[in-house]
Amino acid sequence: MFDRNAVDTGFSRKAEVYDAYCENHPVIRWARAVIRAEVVRVLPPGGSILELNAGTGADAAYFVQRGYRVHATDLAGGMIAAIQNKIRTLDAGERFTVQQISFTELERIEGTPFDLVFSNFGGLNCIPDINVVARRLPTVLKPGGYVVWVVMPPVCPWELVQALRGKFRVAARRLHPNGVLANVEGVRVPTWYFTPKHVRQAFPPAFRLVRQRSLSLFCPPSFMDRFPLRFPRLSHRLMQWDERLGIHPPFNRWGDFILYTFRYER
Ligand SMILES: C[S@@+](CC[C@H](N)C(=O)[O-])C[C@H]1O[C@@H](n2cnc3c(N)ncnc32)[C@H](O)[C@@H]1O
Repeated sequence: MFDRNAVDTGFSRKAEVYDAYCENHPVIRWARAVIRAEVVRVLPPGGSILELNAGTGADAAYFVQRGYRVHATDLAGGMIAAIQNKIRTLDAGERFTVQQISFTELERIEGTPFDLVFSNFGGLNCIPDINVVARRLPTVLKPGGYVVWVVMPPVCPWELVQALRGKFRVAARRLHPNGVLANVEGVRVPTWYFTPKHVRQAFPPAFRLVRQRSLSLFCPPSFMDRFPLRFPRLSHRLMQWDERLGIHPPFNRWGDFILYTFRYER
């Protein structure tokens, strides 16, 4: 089951170190740039974004600075405090708002409907069935609006090859059908991994898949911290392969993350 207390405690602790870690990590910086470009591709500045599991609000602040209106939501108190700090710094008035809420309670979201619903870096992997969120999207999204979600799939080749180095737990962690306990700053947070088929089927029929792209299929995922430092040119080349090939089947089914863009066509 979804563990509200574990999410709140673990990710509140994570909030203290999260921005510094992400801002200094070449792979995370690259992945964020690709993901942000997808949002900008489907929604022009001036549009409204509901961000689920917004974390410290790094993406929310980015979009606000580019002229969007963003309602940033998260469950963890520590993450909400970090978003509030960014709201004070940017002073964007009604264009940057925050709400502490679980994405399993979309009917309580304030300021609906939005032009786009955004979820980045696997926050949705903290519930056992993505269906619970996907089927309630029509309550928060305008017809013609978009969904951009970044979700972790079960098959990440860079994790599977860790078995060759004797790291069998890392290699197998995504393959447990009943989920695994991820260590988030010493707290065990239940985590599930979703196949592209599961994600597509979770959406009501009025939602059309526009794009599906893998991230960190060729380029090693962020947990392999030392790789981009030891091999910067190779890392850059692998990022380019991800960008070119990650959009096409079968590559767009595997990787550290899969980026999905859906349009609500009702
Ligand atoms: C890996 S962080 C990603 C944060 C942010 N999206 C980013 O790109 O940096 C996952 C986030 O999901 C949030 N989260 C997990 N379960 C949630 C839930 N049921 N409702 C809302 N937020 C949740 C956590 O508190 C955490 O901030």
